Amino acid sequence: MNNVFADSILQGKVAFVTGGATGITGGIARAFFEHGAKLAITSRKEENLIAKKQYIEENGGECFTVVSDVRDYAAVENAINAAREHFGKIDIVVNGAAGNFLSPASELSANGFGTVVDIDTKGTFNVCRAAFESLKETRGQIINVSATLHYLATPMQIHVSAAKAGVDAITRNLAVEWGRFGIRVNGIAPGPIEDTEGMKRLLMPELRDKLLRRIPVGRFGRIEDIENAALFLASDAASYISGETIIVDGGAWLLGTSFS
Ligand code: COA
Repeated sequence: MNNVFADSILQGKVAFVTGGATGITGGIARAFFEHGAKLAITSRKEENLIAKKQYIEENGGECFTVVSDVRDYAAVENAINAAREHFGKIDIVVNGAAGNFLSPASELSANGFGTVVDIDTKGTFNVCRAAFESLKETRGQIINVSATLHYLATPMQIHVSAAKAGVDAITRNLAVEWGRFGIRVNGIAPGPIEDTEGMKRLLMPELRDKLLRRIPVGRFGRIEDIENAALFLASDAASYISGETIIVDGGAWLLGTSFS
């Protein structure tokens, strides 16, 4: 990977990553492995976990997988306990499991809104809460994957905007409450990242060029841009950063999402 971090910056660390089999969070998991971490990964889809575990192990790493839905607290607690038992500790938790689709608010059902809030917001709380004792033992840290959708307003995304606003609140509140246990809590808010399922499903093709013209740095993001932010937050270089959500979007949110 093209980055400035030493291969060993996460040597000896154990990272528990939800949604860590694919997409942006899959990239974070792979980058953590490439920099020395052992991985515990959860996903709702077993086939994705099998592929990820095979990749990590073929490349000389250790990967423990658990099928689990972050909405189910008991399942999350079991996954955290199993990972803690397998590796003896957990140093880093990454909350990447998320749900998303486009829908105008006027057509979105209450259950559709609630489903995304349950996955993103309640799921993030569930994992943080279940990992608290483990993170207290290691003076560990949490990285929550958020978004920029709620900084202004994003049409067709009221559910995700509300859910991610909640995630940012969790990041700040836990940073304050758990700082005294040595636990740092931060977030990453990705902008439009190329080659992700989210971008393929959520960006209408006819808006692609218009959006590109509105990104100040002149390109779409890459998964490795998010990996680098996660490596920085996970490293000792960020040891005095807590309660912060780093925006990695090339400046895009500053221009909003209105294309007229
Ligand atoms: N548009 C409008 N409503 C939708 C929707 C869409 N594209 N997709 C789901 N919903 C609504 C459903 O209609 C349902 O509400 P209802 O009972 O009132 O009809 C509710 O959301 C739950 O849907 P369901 O499919 O039963 O939930 P699920 O738990 O199986 O999956 C998601 C929910 C959000 C994860 C699902 O949309 C999904 O699989 N998305 C693709 C994966 C993804 O989002 N990955 C994140 C990458 S950015």
